[in-house]
Amino acid sequence: MTYLKVEREEEIVQITINRQDKLNAMNLDVMNEFISLLDDLEKDSSKVIIITGDGPKAFSAGADIEYMSSIGPAEAEKYALCGHEVLNRIEKLEKPVIAAVNGYALGGGCELALSCDIRFASPNAQLGQPEVTLGICPGWGGTQRLLRIIGPARAKDLIFSGRKILAEEAFSMGLINKIFPSESLLAETRAYAKAISKNSSFAIGISKMLVNRGTDTNLDTGLKLEIYSWAVCFSTKDREERMRKFIAKK
Ligand code: COA
Repeated sequence: MTYLKVEREEEIVQITINRQDKLNAMNLDVMNEFISLLDDLEKDSSKVIIITGDGPKAFSAGADIEYMSSIGPAEAEKYALCGHEVLNRIEKLEKPVIAAVNGYALGGGCELALSCDIRFASPNAQLGQPEVTLGICPGWGGTQRLLRIIGPARAKDLIFSGRKILAEEAFSMGLINKIFPSESLLAETRAYAKAISKNSSFAIGISKMLVNRGTDTNLDTGLKLEIYSWAVCFSTKDREERMRKFIAKK
């Protein structure tokens, strides 16, 4: 991989977007590397994924403006489809994905963070959807995921104004789960990843699916799906062992 640095430590995989000279903007090469990495992550035994950006300045400054400046609708559609494939697959991955937002997360960079399950940030992180300043609307899921995470009024404010918000404001909107000092953001994210990796991967995967499906379904359907998913958990050896250990400790 040229643009994605992949580090594995125990069952935790850290992906660093490595295009610092362009503030980790995601051109087609970056997105294609994500696609082949996801082919592995969907099958391997990793338990938690962390995504961050290289360098002190940016998580990702978004889709590649230089590339977009010279394309028409047909190529734009392909670029959007590619972005959607990556972000949908991250969202549907049956393991937690945490964004460690270490600076600018703009446009596609913000959308990438939105597709993750948890977002941690450093105080200097700046998030936003500045697409309208470039004559386009968000194209990698921003309108839909922002709406679902922070609600329509706040989503429209960010999208219509294109303004960048600091981590503190993003936290107050529920866009960021927690803020850590810049120097400890990655260590804290890894510690959190390690802690959740001790829990049942099966139960976490199924919980992720239930919460994701719950955002787009009615309460009754979501609750029914939870009942059946809960029952399925009782078919695993992992559940048996974890409960047996709890009883044995007593
Ligand atoms: N696509 C392609 N290149 C980008 C980029 C993007 N989204 N964002 C930044 N870059 C490049 C710059 O062109 C520059 O390259 P160069 O050194 O070869 O000229 C390099 O990254 C550094 O960016 P620069 O603008 O000089 O840094 P800055 O600190 O002055 O400003 C930002 C930082 C993030 C405010 C500014 O780069 C920016 O607004 N970027 C675009 C963000 C955006 O609109 N994203 C949504 C795209 S739909």
